[in-house]
Formats: sequence, C-alpha cells, structure tokens
Amino acid sequence: MKILVATEKPFAATAVEGIKKEIENIGNQVVMLEKYTDKQQLLDAVSDADAMIVRSDKITAEVLDAAKQLKIIVRAGAGYDNIDTEYAKGRGVIVENTPGQNSNAVAELVFGLLVFAVRNFYNGKSGTELKGKKLGILAFGNVGRNVARIAKGFDMEIFAYDAFCPASAIEEAGVHAVASQDDLFKICDIVSLHIPATAETKGSIDYKTVAQMKKGGILINTARKEVINEPELLKLFSEREDLKFITDIKPDADEEFAKFEGRYFSTPKKMGAQTAEANINAGIAAARQINAFFKDGCTKFQVNK
Ligand code: 3PG
Repeated sequence: MKILVATEKPFAATAVEGIKKEIENIGNQVVMLEKYTDKQQLLDAVSDADAMIVRSDKITAEVLDAAKQLKIIVRAGAGYDNIDTEYAKGRGVIVENTPGQNSNAVAELVFGLLVFAVRNFYNGKSGTELKGKKLGILAFGNVGRNVARIAKGFDMEIFAYDAFCPASAIEEAGVHAVASQDDLFKICDIVSLHIPATAETKGSIDYKTVAQMKKGGILINTARKEVINEPELLKLFSEREDLKFITDIKPDADEEFAKFEGRYFSTPKKMGAQTAEANINAGIAAARQINAFFKDGCTKFQVNK
C-alpha cells in the first residue's frame, strides 16, 4: 500500500521519521509531498495513493477524483473543514481526524500571544498582567480545556461556554459555565475562540457579539478565520479604540486590520500546532489510525459516517 503524506506546511523531521517507522513496520510504503506550491503536484501524487495523511491541505472534489485508489484520509489535527467530507463519503473514502493530539500546542500559543498583547506588543510602555483577569473560553473541547488548565497557572478567573457541552462538565473542570455566548463576551476581559468552522459558526463572531465586550477587551483567535465576520469587526474597531484583536490565522482583511496600530496582531502563518511535540503526536496517531484501518478495518475516528 502507498501512504502519501501531503503537507504544504511540513511536520518536524522527527515526526516524519516516526510516521515512516509506524507505516513501514507493517510493510507499507510512505511517499512524502512536502511544501508543495502547486495543486498539480498534489493531483499527481494522490493518483496511486491508498491512504493520505494531511494537515490543513485542501482536499477538494478535484483531488478526490484524482485519487482513484484512495481509501482513507487522516487529517493529522482536529479541524477537518479543509476536506470535502461529503464528497469523500460519496466516493467511499473514509475521513478521520486525530482529536486532542495537537491541542496543548495551540493552547500554549494562546498565552504566548496574550502576554504579548497585554504588554502592548513589547513597545516599552506599561501594560497589564493576566492574573485576576476574566478569561472566556468559547468551546470547551480539547484546546479549550488545555487553555483552562494553563489559565489556572496565571491565576485568571475562567469562564466557558460550549453549545454542545453541558454546564456540569465545564464546572467539573473548575471553570465557571455561562449560559450563552453573549454572556461570555459581556463578562470577560479576554475571549479566546476555539470553535470549529461550521455552517453555524462561520461569521458568527460579528459586530453585535464583540461590541458587548468591556472597555479594553481582547479577542483572540487560534481557531479558524472563517468564524470572524471581518467587515463587521473592522467597523467595530473603527468605533471602539479600546479593543484588541490577536489572531493566529491571518484574516483576509489583514492589511485593513493592521491599520489599527497597537490593537492588532497576526502571526505570519498559522503556528498553533507548529511544535515538534504536536507534529509527533498528531502525525504518529494518523499513521497508527491508517495501520489500524488496513489491519483490522478500524474506523474509530471517522468523521464522515
Ligand atoms: C487543527 O485543526 O488541528 C489545528 O488548527 C492545526 O492545524 P495545522 O495542522 O494546519 O497546523
């Protein structure tokens, strides 16, 4: 069997070694396509692949049509909005993710970005501390839970809302559960987004939502750019000079946001899961899931049932 690892944003070398070891151990072959710049390279590489490991790589109907032998795609990571899961289902291709494997890396970056933001991007002027501030976590999944764990070390007051997680489960984790997304924005000094990009969430972080934040509020996005209603957030930022927006996913309107000097920062490229540990965890989990599928027909992590 040929297992294609197609990563426009490559894994750390140690993760690649681990993936190869896992797959070659059961007699399968690994083919690497890293840092590709052209869709055609991906179309050529998938043509005889039996399985694929990807990150945020766009797996469209066109790619799936070119992949005549493909049986399974594993997204080494959590969000699978980059894959046309329905089309894959129609073609009989199983899509899986590796939930939780890179979540600590994303959560740590939240705090790297937050300290940078509250210290005024290290411009030399007096900033503030995170201690005692109210942190709102929007969606209490694997990343949200890690954010809560780390926030306890900063002595923050932690609140969370998750439309799919009962309040009791949030409270059990030592976090205040709030009744609605609106409440989270009203109560908290900082709101950290951990929602996936779905039909319901796309554009949901809009003018009305963010305008509820208190003076000096900070919005931090390490989730997906699509959840932000960019034109509405730009409008709000032109009216509210006190708000800050920090993101790990460069918005389409990056240049316009950048005009709000001292109130906006974006990493140049999505860096949340870009650690050796996250790459090893997610990459090796993906390889093992592919092995389990070919050996035993295991589809435990399938997301397109
Ligand atoms: C995820 O969904 O797992 C994270 O957003 C990381 O994505 P990446 O593999 O593209 O860095």
